[in-house]
Amino acid sequence: MTTKSYILGFGSYAPERILTNTDLESLVDTTDEWITTRTGIKQRHMAAEGETTSDLGAKAAMNALASAGLAAKDLTHILVATCTPDAMCPSTACLIERKLGVSGLMAVDLNAACSGFLYALNLAQGIVAMNADAKVLVVAAEVLTRRLNWNDRSTCVLFGDGAGAAIVSARPNEGRTVEIADCLLSSDGALGDLLLISGGGTSIPYKHGDSVGDEFFVRMEGREIFKHAVRSMARVCEELLTRNGIKREDVDMLLPHQANLRIIEAVGKKLDIPAEKVFVNLQEYGNTSAASVPLALADADSKNMLPAGRTILLTTFGGGFTWGAALLRT
Ligand code: COA
Repeated sequence: MTTKSYILGFGSYAPERILTNTDLESLVDTTDEWITTRTGIKQRHMAAEGETTSDLGAKAAMNALASAGLAAKDLTHILVATCTPDAMCPSTACLIERKLGVSGLMAVDLNAACSGFLYALNLAQGIVAMNADAKVLVVAAEVLTRRLNWNDRSTCVLFGDGAGAAIVSARPNEGRTVEIADCLLSSDGALGDLLLISGGGTSIPYKHGDSVGDEFFVRMEGREIFKHAVRSMARVCEELLTRNGIKREDVDMLLPHQANLRIIEAVGKKLDIPAEKVFVNLQEYGNTSAASVPLALADADSKNMLPAGRTILLTTFGGGFTWGAALLRT
């Protein structure tokens, strides 16, 4: 990409209610020990009754605006990555626009499951390349706990609710530069059946008066996903580093999708990036799908872990299958 693009600010939001592994022990046949050793997750946040994806997304957006020193009226576009929208229509992006008290923006949702944030970031790069004055709000927000089968212990312990946001522009903030140096994204629709929420769309429609079946909730083949996730994230990171002429030892931080600590460790190992350079916060949030990477970025930023002069490698994997990587330079 010839036009450069920059992140002006990061923001995140997680619902107040916390569900610990110990809380889960009274809901399903599981233990804190099993969840901790198999996944690294200790707790997850859960939206309150009536709290929606756009509520979480709007709060993350406001935090990103504050971090960028901007007001909602400065925005030109809203891209929202989610696989748990408030509704089929209107889009969560339009609902967030309304909650931010603005109108007249281009506002649209996209669904790349857990990879949604990096997909949206790449589209934002395209928008600022076409329009040097654009200020694109990229939000990734999920309320996956409403799409979990609480009778399926192999999935319901993994996910949590949350939102992350970033503002993308063709020019950096004064005094702080976070360049989106490159993005590389991929997918393989043939693997879609390994991770899905198939009910509620046109293939398995909801009919008035029907009871809702298991297909309306997350279903997955955990072991298969595990293998594909490690392989795909490691490969796409290697390709991105190679095409940018960056050596593995020059990566200051690897910030991967927060799905499972064992997946994260395996990716770090395959890339030869030591554990102390790998950012992990899934113990607090679980897998928040599209929100995971921007939530982790906002978390790292709030801990002053993104100072000037760093090369940060983001990578993600999700349903579809979709996966990708991005390089940030501070
Ligand atoms: N508590 C206790 N036991 C559980 C359990 C739970 N929450 N969930 C599954 N088990 C049991 C299984 O029933 C199985 O029992 P069995 O041996 O008697 O049949 C046993 O634990 C092992 O199950 P298995 O599925 O082989 O475990 P695993 O080591 O593969 O770990 C996952 C399961 C789901 C944690 C792991 O496969 C994973 O994380 N996969 C990736 C999923 C993911 O990240 N998806 C989102 C991608 S974006």
